[in-house]
Amino acid sequence: MSVSPDHTPHTVSADGASGNLPRHVAFIMDGNGRWATARSLPRTEGHRQGLETLRSVIRHSGRVGIEVVTIYSFSSENWSRPEAEVSFLMGLLRRFVQRDLSELHKSNVRIRIIGNRADLEPGILALLNEAEDLTKENTGLNLVVAFNYGSRAEIVRAAQSLAEKVAKGELQAGDISETALTEAMDTAGLPDPDLIIRTSGEMRLSNFLLWQAAYSEFYFCDKNWPEFSEADFDKALACFGSRQRRYGGLDAKASL
Ligand code: IPE
Ligand code: IPE
Ligand code: MG
Repeated sequence: MSVSPDHTPHTVSADGASGNLPRHVAFIMDGNGRWATARSLPRTEGHRQGLETLRSVIRHSGRVGIEVVTIYSFSSENWSRPEAEVSFLMGLLRRFVQRDLSELHKSNVRIRIIGNRADLEPGILALLNEAEDLTKENTGLNLVVAFNYGSRAEIVRAAQSLAEKVAKGELQAGDISETALTEAMDTAGLPDPDLIIRTSGEMRLSNFLLWQAAYSEFYFCDKNWPEFSEADFDKALACFGSRQRRYGGLDAKASL
């Protein structure tokens, strides 16, 4: 996948709303467990309900005209959860791919997986590869699934791949640039996230897209992920539209 990594904002969304639309929105889908616990339900019920939110977010992103949506579906640190919860989440991912893949493909969605694929269970790995392969020619919404993803580990893997090239004499140490590192990341070819939305009231990145988020805008929503609605999404987009991004420079007006 190659989506040009420039900073050009969209100005009009598909539904006619004005204001800058982010090209790339990344979601930290948090609060499934708390949503369930608050209703005296098992945490797994929160994950199940969270999948419904994910479906609605994907649909809405396509309608509004967002180019790239990244979802943090499972972090490399989430393995430390109780085994029963981890295996439920793996089952949910399996069901998501099995049930939704053909529909996503029909909707022209292109799927890409980021995260560490080494040591993944072969069945899961095969499903992830199938999702990528089937949809690789699609030209609609790019859906980036961060699975077994940890940003520091991603940066380490990128550094290792560049170091290997230096060791083989294919690259000079002095050629290791921001561009070279960006292209060695799992997210190579994708624009950086313009907007990162985290639900559940937590205000942290939890090892998500540390390199790519250098100039991202952040939006925190107090609702837990299972109750994050299209209206909440629109609110986040409107908030983004009102932000002034300066990239270290000055506003056009202030520089006069
Ligand atoms: C997010 O919800 C889903 C994953 C991390 C897989 P949580 O499971 O983190 O829910 P809380 O934060 O414990 O409420
Ligand atoms: C981040 O949420 C990971 C995902 C949403 C998949 P966590 O619930 O794992 O993050 P912490 O532990 O609250 O930082
Ligand atoms: Mg959480």
